[in-house]
Amino acid sequence: MRKISVALGSNRYEIHVGSGLLARTGHRLRESGFSGKLVIITDPTVSRLYGETLGQGLAKEGFAVSTLLVPAGEAQKSLETAGRLYHELTETRAERTTPILALGGGVIGDLGGFVAATYLRGVPLVQVPTTLLSQVDSSIGGKVAVDHGQLKNKIGAFYQPELVVADTDTLKTLPAAELASGLAEVIKSAAIRDREFFTFLEQNLERIKSLDGEALEEVVFRTAQIKAEVVTADEKDTGLRNILNYGHTIGHAIESVSGFRMEHGPAVAIGMVAAARISNRMGLLADDGLVRLENVIGRAGLPTKVPELKKEKIIQAMKHDKKVRKEKVRFVLLKSIGRVLVTDEVSPSLVEEVLAGEK
Ligand SMILES: NC(=O)c1ccc[n+]([C@@H]2O[C@H](COP(=O)([O-])OP(=O)(O)OC[C@H]3O[C@@H](n4cnc5c(N)ncnc54)[C@H](O)[C@@H]3O)[C@@H](O)[C@H]2O)c1
Ligand SMILES: [Zn+2]
Repeated sequence: MRKISVALGSNRYEIHVGSGLLARTGHRLRESGFSGKLVIITDPTVSRLYGETLGQGLAKEGFAVSTLLVPAGEAQKSLETAGRLYHELTETRAERTTPILALGGGVIGDLGGFVAATYLRGVPLVQVPTTLLSQVDSSIGGKVAVDHGQLKNKIGAFYQPELVVADTDTLKTLPAAELASGLAEVIKSAAIRDREFFTFLEQNLERIKSLDGEALEEVVFRTAQIKAEVVTADEKDTGLRNILNYGHTIGHAIESVSGFRMEHGPAVAIGMVAAARISNRMGLLADDGLVRLENVIGRAGLPTKVPELKKEKIIQAMKHDKKVRKEKVRFVLLKSIGRVLVTDEVSPSLVEEVLAGEK
C-alpha cells in the first residue's frame, strides 16, 4: 500500500492506494478513533460487487453499518436525492460523529460528500472511490456537489474527507469505457506536470489496459499525487488548479454541444489534442510532443479527432464556459510534455482552424 499525505487548511488526511484495502478499511478507521455507527452510501452495482468485502471488514471491527442505496447515474446528483438521504440518515439515527463512507464512482463521491458536508452541518467523510476517475480525480481536492438545473456541480462545498481509500482491485471490474475515461485524466496529469510519468504511460499502456495490478497501482498513485500537490497549493481554486483544466476548455464545449452524448473522458481527450495542436501552432510545443500526446491518447482507446459537430457551436459554448474572463477564453497550453502555460491570449481564428482540422 502507498500513502499520499494531503494537508489542506487545518485538515490533514491520507490517500491510501493499493490492493486489498477494502477489507482493511474497518481496521484503519478503528485506528483513527472511529467506532459505533457508520453509514455507507453506494449504488446497487458497486454494492453488489464490493459491499460485502467492505462490510465484513467493518463488522469485524465492531462497526454497526447501515447501507443507503442510490441508483447509479448522474441524475442522482440532485438536491432531491440529497433530501432523501438526509431523511434516511435521520431514520438510522446518524449523529454528528457518525462517519459517512461514499463507496463508488464520482457520482457517489460528489453526492455522498455533499450530504456529509451538510447533514448536521457536517459529519466525518470517508471517500472509497471505485472508478479510475474517482480514484485519481474526483475524490481528491474536497469539491463536493450536486447538480441543479443548468448548474452542473455548482451547488456544493469544499469539504475534506478524513481518509481516501483507493483500492485498485476494484478497477478490475470496470467497463472498458470507464477505464478509458479515467485514463484521459491520467494522461492529462502526466502531460501537465510529469514528463517521467508520461514516459511510464507510453511504455506501460498495454499492461494498464490489461489491468495489471502493479501498473494500476503506479498509475493511481502517481496521478493522485499530482492532483493532491496541485490542490494543496491552491485549496480554493483561485489559481494553480487551472492547470487541471488542460483539455477541458474545448472538452467541456464538445460535451455540451453533443448534448452530453459524448462522455467527459473522450471529450477531454479530443480537447487535449486540440489544445496541443494550438500550442504547436503558436510555437510553444514541438512536433514531437504533439505526436507523443496524440499517440498515447489513441492507444488508450480514446478519440483524438474533433467530431462532426457544428464548430461555431463549440466556439459559442467555450465562451459560456466558466473559464471565460472578460470575453476571453482561458486555455491551458503545453510548452512541452510536463510543462504548461495558462493564457487568455489564444487567437479565436487559430482555435477555429484547429477545430476545423485545417493543417
Ligand atoms: N469532485 C470533483 O472534483 C470531480 C472531478 C471530476 C469529476 N467529478 C464528477 O464525477 C462524476 C463521474 O464519476 P465516474 O466517472 O466515476 O462515474 P460514475 O460515478 O457515474 O460511475 C460510473 C459507473 O460505474 C459503475 N461502477 C463504479 N465502480 C465500479 C467498479 N469498480 N466496477 C464496475 N462498475 C463500477 C457505477 O455503478 C456507475 O454506473 C461526475 O458526476 C463528475 O461531475 C467530480
Ligand atoms: Zn475532467
